[in-house]
Amino acid sequence: MLKKLQQRWKVSGLRLTFVLATFAIGGSLTGYIGRMLMNIFPINNTWLWIITYLIVIIILWPVMVLLISIPFGQFRFFINYIHKIEIRMGLIKAERGTNKTKASEIRLAIFASGTGSNAQKIIDHFRNNPHIRVVLIVCNKPGAGVLKIADQEKISTLLTEKEKFFRGNANLDELKQYKIDWIILAGFLWKIPDAMIRAFPDKIINIHPALLPNYGGKGMYGPKVHETVLANHEKESGITIHYVDNKYDHGKILLRVKCPVLPDDTADSLAQRVHVLEHTHYPATIEKLVTGRWY
Ligand code: GRF
Repeated sequence: MLKKLQQRWKVSGLRLTFVLATFAIGGSLTGYIGRMLMNIFPINNTWLWIITYLIVIIILWPVMVLLISIPFGQFRFFINYIHKIEIRMGLIKAERGTNKTKASEIRLAIFASGTGSNAQKIIDHFRNNPHIRVVLIVCNKPGAGVLKIADQEKISTLLTEKEKFFRGNANLDELKQYKIDWIILAGFLWKIPDAMIRAFPDKIINIHPALLPNYGGKGMYGPKVHETVLANHEKESGITIHYVDNKYDHGKILLRVKCPVLPDDTADSLAQRVHVLEHTHYPATIEKLVTGRWY
């Protein structure tokens, strides 16, 4: 249960203790002060008392947890938390706009055209991060699963087409409009145009479902990668996270993580094992990289 909370809120064990302590103390204080206020202004009608008490509690709770969160150093977490509750309750609208940025915010665009399982993991990873935000999903395939994810997550999308992407200005205007800092490729099959690479130097990364420099290059995607690994009787496969340059699957390698290829593997079973590695390592690598903690 505690582990699940830790994963959901992306906090360390110690931080989780502070967060839970804030909830507990803030909650108790809310009840205590709420009852004190009700005693100062007595109401005789039971229903009216209950309704008034609930309203008092709803107003007091955020104030109390925010106050208590300060000495615990968790003010940002709770501001964020309360903001999300307000969005869920429909009290305020989720920011879906293009250029509302906080000064210190790092803004990510995910380029994906498949089911988007990696995109989902990245979105989940940064959900409660006040400094890093997925603000745009760029896709070249109408109906792709990743667009549904974007819709559920209320993240803006840009459906690009060949003409605009490869000629024109490679969608740079839109990326500028969304104030994108980093481009994260997660199953985007088109080659990234030179203009975009020049505009985002060392700010575009990709994940490949094999151990580069082997099993990469044009046409090496999806089941084909795993089928070729199996056909060559490799004992190991894995993932590679790398910078993007003007050749397919070629830029400087940041991380390679291996997994075994088992004797009875099919392309499907190997793909699943590799996917688990991707989901585990890609979000954390992105976080380290964009915050300058990657060496
Ligand atoms: C992943 O296997 C990734 O390595 C490759 O494209 C695939 C995308 O999968 N670049 P998903 O759409 O994130 O499930």
